[in-house]
Amino acid sequence: KLPYAEPYRIKMVEPIRQSTKEERENWISEAHYNLFNLESDKVFIDLLTDSGTGAMSDRQWGALMTGDESYAGSRSFQELYQSVNKITGYRYLLPTHQGRAAENVLFSVLVKDGDIVPGNSHFDTTKGHIEFRKAHAIDCTIDEAFDTELIHPFKGNIDLVKLEKVYQTYPKEKIPFCLITITCNTSGGQPVSLENIKAVRDLSNKYGIPVYFDSARFAENAYFIKQREDGQQNRTIKEICKEIFSYGDGMTMSSKKDGLVNIGGFIALNNEEIFRKASNFTIIYEGFITYGGLSGRDMAALAVGLDEATEFGYLESRISQVEYLGNQLIEMGIPVQRPIGGHAVFVDALKFLPNVKREEFPAQTLAVEIYKEAGIRGVEIGAILADRDPETRENRYPKTEFVRLAIPRRTYTNNHMDYIAAALKNVFDRRNEISSGYKISWESEIMRHFTVKLDKA
Ligand code: F0G
Repeated sequence: KLPYAEPYRIKMVEPIRQSTKEERENWISEAHYNLFNLESDKVFIDLLTDSGTGAMSDRQWGALMTGDESYAGSRSFQELYQSVNKITGYRYLLPTHQGRAAENVLFSVLVKDGDIVPGNSHFDTTKGHIEFRKAHAIDCTIDEAFDTELIHPFKGNIDLVKLEKVYQTYPKEKIPFCLITITCNTSGGQPVSLENIKAVRDLSNKYGIPVYFDSARFAENAYFIKQREDGQQNRTIKEICKEIFSYGDGMTMSSKKDGLVNIGGFIALNNEEIFRKASNFTIIYEGFITYGGLSGRDMAALAVGLDEATEFGYLESRISQVEYLGNQLIEMGIPVQRPIGGHAVFVDALKFLPNVKREEFPAQTLAVEIYKEAGIRGVEIGAILADRDPETRENRYPKTEFVRLAIPRRTYTNNHMDYIAAALKNVFDRRNEISSGYKISWESEIMRHFTVKLDKA
């Protein structure tokens, strides 16, 4: 068997700049130890997110030139509709400017004060949109997901016992839908199996609850199903995607991930009444229903991006690169969420920095150390991101503290991966010297991790 190689060659490059340790120490202190506050030229390899940071193909750049900028009835909308319909099978499409906008529009129709939305570790903006409406997100992810060393092929799965308990505890009218996030970002880019998706559908049918997908990384999820689930090996990614979506009533999408574009999102669904209501909110919040906050050319590039992202060769190279980095860290003895997820390597900060107290934010501390070491920017997925409990205002300490190293799509080479691994090794070698973290000096009411200011503890 030959090793995988990227199914593309590079036609355009963007220079990035190295800096010195001394420069970085000053910059991160000026940034109040919040990596979101760093200007991008102060970062050498940017692993803050895989969202909107990927490279478009020549076919997508070509499509940009053909965008139809008509306010209503744009041809680019039709192209996007065809592309979405082919992959998902859903009848109705509402474009939005990004994923959280799709959540805002759809949840404006579906989620009310006091509602309960069960799912598998809701993403932070998703939870934000639920809690903003005074509703509650209940995490029903399987327990295996929180044991980072345990190997399980589908750590994004929903625990059916936990889910049924929610269905039995609350009346049907209080549960607008169950939300399945594919792949599950918060638990480490971990996939949900087709079997689990189908079982959630069946259980939800029994209680009369609709099922929606948060589909930002649906194609990566389909790749894992093809690789890991019995009987799926000979199917195409597009066939698997179609089946996944057949078990849902609809989806929200952040096109900045598996849409392979830099901005965009959409809602796709089957129910006409919900579509009508959501159309009104789209018009208020986003724009007319055939552009929803996007330019025609954005939609044209997205139509092509969705097609490319659901091709096996692309997914194999993308996910193998993430795995290539993850395997190097595992060989070095660095604790990471296993198996390696689709879009990122999640470093287990509680194990990496056991001397830093939870109240001093070990994952944030590690993210700052990695930046200082090598100019690599990751992101904290831990207690800062988890926010305070909306009622008690106490800090919430999640079961895990991760530094997420998210790999942008088609952007960095495996030399960059080697550099990242070497940098982490250097920090790992001096981990025992790192014993104090950070304290919050300023934070916002909700979604504090974007703007939080920190001081050395
Ligand atoms: N759902 C999931 C699972 C996500 O990961 C994101 C974004 C969203 C919804 C919201 O989409 O950014 O287009 O508004 N995740 C990014 C990340 C920001 O870094 O993981 P958006």
